[in-house]
Amino acid sequence: MRNLLEITDFTTQEIDDLIALALDIIAKPEKYSEHCKGKKLATLFYEPSTRTRLSFVAAMMELGGNVLGFSDAAASSVSKGESVADTVRTVECFADIIAMRHNKEGAPFLAAQYANVPIINAGDGGHCHPTQTLTDLLTIFREKGTFDNLTIGFCGDLKFGRTVHSLAKAMGRYSGVKFVFISPNELKIPDYLRNELTRHCGLDPQSHKQQEIPAFAGMTETNSLENAMPELDILYMTRVQRERFENEDDYNRLKDSFILDIEKLKTAKKDMIILHPLPRVNEISTDVDNDPRALYFKQVLNGKYIRMALIDTLLRTKNKEQRTKTDEFVLCEKCKNPRCISSIEDVKPLYKILENGEKRCYYCDN
Ligand code: NCD
Repeated sequence: MRNLLEITDFTTQEIDDLIALALDIIAKPEKYSEHCKGKKLATLFYEPSTRTRLSFVAAMMELGGNVLGFSDAAASSVSKGESVADTVRTVECFADIIAMRHNKEGAPFLAAQYANVPIINAGDGGHCHPTQTLTDLLTIFREKGTFDNLTIGFCGDLKFGRTVHSLAKAMGRYSGVKFVFISPNELKIPDYLRNELTRHCGLDPQSHKQQEIPAFAGMTETNSLENAMPELDILYMTRVQRERFENEDDYNRLKDSFILDIEKLKTAKKDMIILHPLPRVNEISTDVDNDPRALYFKQVLNGKYIRMALIDTLLRTKNKEQRTKTDEFVLCEKCKNPRCISSIEDVKPLYKILENGEKRCYYCDN
């Protein structure tokens, strides 16, 4: 464990260990209050954030460490045209660990090739968001006591919703888990993710070989929240990601696709839990907030605890060489995804070749 670029960088055992540590932090916070004394976290946020950035800051403060960084790239040398590679080589002179959020997919993967301090991906475009997944997993574990045999409905913008992509990869590694993907046709999960889940695989972080999922119970795709509701143990609502649309008319047409209200919850299980990474726009009506199944604000608090566990663990992991090696990836032509970091920066065009011959951009998975 050295960077957290995508959730599959961690084995399920490593995730279990982080959750156990977070639970210990919740039980005995004073024990950890000086764990990161003298250490500095840099938060490099090229994209807006409330919860993720502030929970990183609060987490480091509660560990006795300090924080520096920017919350608006316009106020940094990025506005003068500085690259991600140069920015991280600068910031690592001042900080022991970096959390980065970027609007381009794969930016933290690029940062990790240059940095000698751990890089945490705090959300890269519409690609992935592993620390939100850790937050979601801690919340699920605290409520359900297990990850096995759960049916989870993901509802809303599954195309650009990066939190969905990472959580699906993580949950797909547990036994007996079933996914119901609920979205309009235009906002279905990306093909690469569907292929990955269909092949019942995750990527082993060391070998990058596929690892078997014990008894992945499968997945369905639908555009009806009402039909899906009765079977769900977890309903994961998401916002339609306005900032990722190329055209405003499409956003306006799709933005009200799903609105969860008390009426729709009538057919839900009594112990179903409702999660949302937040911010919410209108996809959960505020009358749902008082329902005991609505856990999205508890989820926010869990985000601080799991980030404490993550920062503490990454800073304690001793590595001879921090930089991410990319030797096993193949040099190819430039990625054609306009949302990929390679569209704006001079990066080595690297690809992963999967066992079935499928070729995917190392940075953005397209
Ligand atoms: C999410 C994100 O930024 O992807 N928010 C978060 O980090 N808690 C979800 C969103 O913006 O819709």
